[in-house]
Amino acid sequence: MVIVLKLGGSIITEKDSYRKINEETIVKLCDILSKSKEKMVLIHGAGSFGHILALRHGLEKPGSSRGREGPISRVMSDVLTLDSAIIDKLNEKGVRAVAVPPHAVYHGSRPDFKIVETLVDYGFIPVLYGDIIIHKGKYRIISGDEIALDLSRRLRPRSVVFVTDVDGLYDSDPKINKRAKFIPKIMASEIEVIDTKRDATGSMAGKMERIKKIVLYTGRVIIINGKRPNRIRDFLEGRETRSTVII
Ligand code: IPE
Repeated sequence: MVIVLKLGGSIITEKDSYRKINEETIVKLCDILSKSKEKMVLIHGAGSFGHILALRHGLEKPGSSRGREGPISRVMSDVLTLDSAIIDKLNEKGVRAVAVPPHAVYHGSRPDFKIVETLVDYGFIPVLYGDIIIHKGKYRIISGDEIALDLSRRLRPRSVVFVTDVDGLYDSDPKINKRAKFIPKIMASEIEVIDTKRDATGSMAGKMERIKKIVLYTGRVIIINGKRPNRIRDFLEGRETRSTVII
């Protein structure tokens, strides 16, 4: 059984600086991933390689690709650049990571993940990422979270891990409420989210709705803080660590 692990864009890039990589974090995370023996499919977000230009050009709304080829291909090129940087670091550390560009697997009415399965079967680590896909002349942004859901339906992974910039879930917003209580474990059906902040691929509430769906196809979803890479290491080595487990 595989683990699906998504590295959030806010961890691997400086979210507010166009095309700025968080090199130090990427190196640390790649180092930790290289020590794991798990069969894995990696996904990463786009961060400042995707959201900034996508929002500037109004690409968050899907539509006809005609007349918008310029910004679409620019964003696709930027997210591919980020992907290459990550793949490169992984391979430097000995991880046999291979890029699987989502625009090439989302070409029909359903994603064709055969190549992902083949790569996993033969000891590679496929790497997918938030991208723009084009089908029948229409483009739309696909988030890494949506890919995590589609992959889960197909692969039925043991765990789906979201490496984010927060420790996990709280019973209220810890930025506003100092007494917010951390939630180490929760049933998906118990989660209620009220949130409004949006980027090119949606809001926190949307993310949680997706996680609730993912739980249907995996043993557990884990939210863990990538700014504390040792927690990822502890999790991969089967040790207790600060994170939220959703079952
Ligand atoms: C966004 O992907 C893709 C584009 C904007 C092209 P994600 O939604 O998965 O990226 P992050 O994790 O929020 O940065």
